[in-house]
Amino acid sequence: MTDAVNRHWIYRSRPDDRLTPEHFEWCTAPRPRPAPGEVLVRVQALSVDPSQRVWMAGPSYRPMLLPGEVMASYAVGQVVQSQSPDFAPGDRVEGDLGWQDFACRAASALRRRDAARPLEQLVGVLGITGATAHVGLFDIGRPRPGEQVLVSGAAGAVGSIAVQLAKKAGCRVVAVAGGPHKAQMLRELGADAVVDYKAGALRADLKRALPKGIDVFFDNVAGAVLEAALPSMNIGGRVVCCGAVSAYDAGQAPPGPRGVPALLIARRLTMAGFVVLDDALRREAAEAALAAWLDDGTLQAPVQVVPGLKNAPQALIDLLAGGNTGKMMVRLD
Ligand SMILES: NC(=O)c1ccc[n+]([C@@H]2O[C@H](COP(=O)([O-])OP(=O)(O)OC[C@H]3O[C@@H](n4cnc5c(N)ncnc54)[C@H](OP(=O)(O)O)[C@@H]3O)[C@@H](O)[C@H]2O)c1
Repeated sequence: MTDAVNRHWIYRSRPDDRLTPEHFEWCTAPRPRPAPGEVLVRVQALSVDPSQRVWMAGPSYRPMLLPGEVMASYAVGQVVQSQSPDFAPGDRVEGDLGWQDFACRAASALRRRDAARPLEQLVGVLGITGATAHVGLFDIGRPRPGEQVLVSGAAGAVGSIAVQLAKKAGCRVVAVAGGPHKAQMLRELGADAVVDYKAGALRADLKRALPKGIDVFFDNVAGAVLEAALPSMNIGGRVVCCGAVSAYDAGQAPPGPRGVPALLIARRLTMAGFVVLDDALRREAAEAALAAWLDDGTLQAPVQVVPGLKNAPQALIDLLAGGNTGKMMVRLD
């Protein structure tokens, strides 16, 4: 790579079903120059997020991705050149920088990050996913000591932090994930029991792991796992609708879950969604709490690092197929 060239991935076509490498195109272009008010950033690490697949499917909390655009991605990088008084060369920043070596962005679209922190922390637990676990669990789940907490997608970026935060809140925590390797990791993070949703007896396994029912369900996946968990919810239980990853990498969303709203009424359940980006101050408070626990060694932040911009499409495809433990990120060359 030379500094005069900007390698990047174009989002080429909209997937009708599963995402494949053919939906992206590798390109090069001259390095962009910042206009007044803009900042040129060298991208250092990409956050690999299931929501990137959602952005291809239609408008969500972000405008829909259009074929021909540089593939969008939250990322962390270093300021190279600044046409804004708000940033100087060498500053570490975060933003929607995309799958590319260099990004020009308005200064107002960037967020300053602590240059002393490793990229793995800034993209991972101190990035969007850690705050998501904190806000979703504490603001919507509102766990009380002694309660039973179920976390789905538990071996992933958000889930692995949510499991540990629920333990910190004094709860008994059951984790749902796919496969024995992920189950082992979750036990090491403190989960009291782990259910492998791929083992073929999900509802019975959940009942066995949760003899006292579920008070808080932190749900990252929706679909079959949500449907299987709802009948075990206790009266007054809270379902934190964080994500629906089981439906993202498909042409059509599956129907369901059955039991809504009848179970919500009979059990007096609250089921609420949220988007962590809605409240910047709340996010900062979450990051401060997570950073303190990281620094005192009471919070583990598993990260899976994929080397090289060229591997970004495969990293996203692998993430959607469950090929990650902890936070998946791409480190640029
Ligand atoms: N509300 C918000 O503000 C917000 C912010 C960030 C993320 N999110 C959401 O949080 C969720 C987790 O995101 P993340 O970044 O932490 O991703 P992640 O959990 O690290 O990665 C996705 C995981 O989803 C699981 N998965 C894939 N297909 C599945 C299926 N059919 N059934 C069950 N599990 C399946 C896979 O694990 P297995 O091997 O266990 O299948 C995979 O590892 C996503 O739904 C995301 O959209 C929400």
